[in-house]
Amino acid sequence: MTPSPLTSRFEVNPSPLPTDQRAAILENPGFGNHFTDHMFLAEWTPDTGWADARVVPYGPLSLDPATAVLHYAQEIFEGMKAYAHPDGSVWIFRPDANAARMQRSAHRLALPELPLEWFLGSIEALIKADRDWVPFGDEKSLYIRPFMFASEVFLGVRPSQHVTYSVIASPAGAYFKGGLKPVSIWLSAWFSRAAAGGTGAAKCGGNYAASLLPQQEATDQGCDQVAFLDASENKWVEELGGMNLYFVQDDGSIVTPELSGSILEGITRDSILTLAADLGHEVIQRKVSIDEWREGTAGGKITEIFACGTAAVVTPVGVLKWDGGQAVSSDGEAGKVTTDIRSALVDIQYGRAEDRHGWMHKVC
Ligand code: PLP
Ligand code: COI
Repeated sequence: MTPSPLTSRFEVNPSPLPTDQRAAILENPGFGNHFTDHMFLAEWTPDTGWADARVVPYGPLSLDPATAVLHYAQEIFEGMKAYAHPDGSVWIFRPDANAARMQRSAHRLALPELPLEWFLGSIEALIKADRDWVPFGDEKSLYIRPFMFASEVFLGVRPSQHVTYSVIASPAGAYFKGGLKPVSIWLSAWFSRAAAGGTGAAKCGGNYAASLLPQQEATDQGCDQVAFLDASENKWVEELGGMNLYFVQDDGSIVTPELSGSILEGITRDSILTLAADLGHEVIQRKVSIDEWREGTAGGKITEIFACGTAAVVTPVGVLKWDGGQAVSSDGEAGKVTTDIRSALVDIQYGRAEDRHGWMHKVC
């Protein structure tokens, strides 16, 4: 257990979870249910800058009821995974991209930017401390959740003058219970996730809070996920509550909605732009209307649809439902293009294929 050079304090958990209990969790981790023995913390004030980096036993944070984040939701987060390779080494995927996105999110939420070396150092310190929590096996990984929040005790509405940054980790299996089975999507008719000029391109908790009622509506309609259209015209496909979208066309090209300012710029989405081109597909970023989705699946122009994100990896979309209709895009199995792109990605992440783009970063 080697702390990162930036870690000023390393407090070993005196009572880590017993090995047999950890093994049982790693066997069947689910998603987001279990947490490792340690966590990373650091504090920021205008006077100190980023300071007091520490790895400590995982446990509750004690917050004053007037802590700003509880009132004004000044909070951002990231999501990434650590993968065990066949030789037992542990790697992360494109951490520089997550670090850069967290800086962009921080800027939008008027939070202090975390330097790249702090982001990387914090993640490395936690993974090294809890290395035994990285599960082996396809589909399994250690999900890493860096987050930052307004921790000043103050009810005035202005950027917090005390900010806390933390990283926690959670062993993860497939995000969707059905694994690679196509998921069903509910089209939100009334609710938007994000508006022009809003926070849609930032990874902030408020975006997810806004998605929960439409997600509940999707669940009530028997669907796995909710799809959002743009807030201005209610016409252009943006993304799902926690994933980006790709459409495979009958000529072999693949299309993803172009970044609009209200779409989250997914790192999986960005990686697929490259991987799909490597596989010989023409890759197009442009506006996709909801009519194109409906008519394209009905007429055969769209042959496959998939969602992508760190948690969901690459997941086929089976059907889009709305009040009074549905558009079916799968016969119940993952399509070939979806499967090939998924394999190209996970084979790199799990160390089974050559990392031609220099995306993998070895932690330990
Ligand atoms: N869109 C939203 C709203 C998300 O929450 C996520 C997940 O992080 C994504 C897209 C995909 O982003 P990434 O591929 O970086 O995980
Ligand atoms: C991720 O994929 O990392 C996310 O943050 C999405 C969330 C639905 C878990």
